[in-house]
Amino acid sequence: MKTLFKNAQVVTKKGVCVKDVLVHDRTIEKIADSIDARVNKEYDLTGKYLMPGLIDAHVHFRVPGYEKKEDWKTGSRAALAGGVTTVFDMPNTKPRTTTLNALETKRDLIRKDTLVNFGLFFGANLNNLDEIKKVHGIVGLKVYMGATTGQIIQEEDAQVEALLEKLYSDHQYIVAVHAENQTMIKRHSETYRDEHNPEIHSLIRNDAVAYAAARTAVHLAKKYDGRLHLCHMSTKKELELIAKYPDKNITCEVTPHHLFLTVADYANQENFVKVNPPLRSHKDQERLWDGLKGKAIDIIATDHAPHLRLEKERDYWDAPSGVPGIETMLPLLLNAVNEDMLQLHDVVDLVCTRPAEIYGVKGKGEIKEGYDADLVVVDMDLERRVEDSALYTKCGWSPFSGRLLRGWPIMTFVRGRLVMENGKIIESEGLHGKEVEV
Ligand code: NCD
Ligand code: ZN
Repeated sequence: MKTLFKNAQVVTKKGVCVKDVLVHDRTIEKIADSIDARVNKEYDLTGKYLMPGLIDAHVHFRVPGYEKKEDWKTGSRAALAGGVTTVFDMPNTKPRTTTLNALETKRDLIRKDTLVNFGLFFGANLNNLDEIKKVHGIVGLKVYMGATTGQIIQEEDAQVEALLEKLYSDHQYIVAVHAENQTMIKRHSETYRDEHNPEIHSLIRNDAVAYAAARTAVHLAKKYDGRLHLCHMSTKKELELIAKYPDKNITCEVTPHHLFLTVADYANQENFVKVNPPLRSHKDQERLWDGLKGKAIDIIATDHAPHLRLEKERDYWDAPSGVPGIETMLPLLLNAVNEDMLQLHDVVDLVCTRPAEIYGVKGKGEIKEGYDADLVVVDMDLERRVEDSALYTKCGWSPFSGRLLRGWPIMTFVRGRLVMENGKIIESEGLHGKEVEV
């Protein structure tokens, strides 16, 4: 099967240039100024952009255990609608992905249902060090420093050092941390125990909570010379911290919800925007945008964490934390490009190339000869409103619903096959994503 893209504005992390791109089966075979070849399918992309498929390095697709919130059929469709062709799934499932057996079971379940490529994080704590030694093929280890959704084990502050010392001395894995200080969260929860306004979430888990944990993690990564990735960084204080460590051993991510929502959004959305770490002030948000422009932030990942409406409608203390985001990340970023908040090649760097580099994913993240044909065609002029009714995520809502965005993915290809066109998922026999090679 050969597919030829003519006159595509190919986006790399450095810029844009008009090229023809030839795909043979699953691989990008040739990129040149002009290609004439006998092919099965030809697309004239004049005026459109061709990007590498997005790698969303932080999702919760909920299998096994929480399939009523999401599964790999719905989650992968949502991904494709949003131009995402690879996702890395987190271990806070039921059972937790903290044993070899749980990892293998999860892999088998995913393989049956997924349309997107995937990588898996393995949960690490002081009780499963022997299991970590048995696993292969994971993208990294995940350490929770603060309690969050799911019964994932997080270490007490005092034990984080023991854990990271062990992980860094026994393994080469990148350690991705959820950095929020549990002792402080507990203390602040006491202070606000009689209040029910969702806004207290940002006070209980304030910027000092994130900073304290991030500082500990960074300090330990330096001490033991390990690879650390700070998930969902959300505050000015954390940015100031990581600015001191420009080396490649410490990387960080931000989420679309921290880039496009603030504490002001509790007023309309209440617990629907309850998320860990919580929404921040406008000031913090401005610093995140500065961080993107100044290259202090390595990647954007969604932390796609769907919960049912019914769960979100509960009282503050009973509503789970987490927001869906996988199908809106790219349109939000493209809209931001249209508003001159960043450039298209920066988007490619942040959501395609750098995620592949950081996690050592082979053959993805760039449009390059010999690389996998995971591709997205983008129409920068298409205007569409985000609407609940058009979403594929099982939870059926988005904190961005109602927004009119300009710039949308109009076609998604996974390993050379067209799987999304104009928002519709195209299914065919034997269509499956594959686990990434790292
Ligand atoms: C996540 C979830 O729901 O699984 N929730 C969240 O608020 N981000 C868990 C997590 O990543 O902390
Ligand atoms: Zn998460």
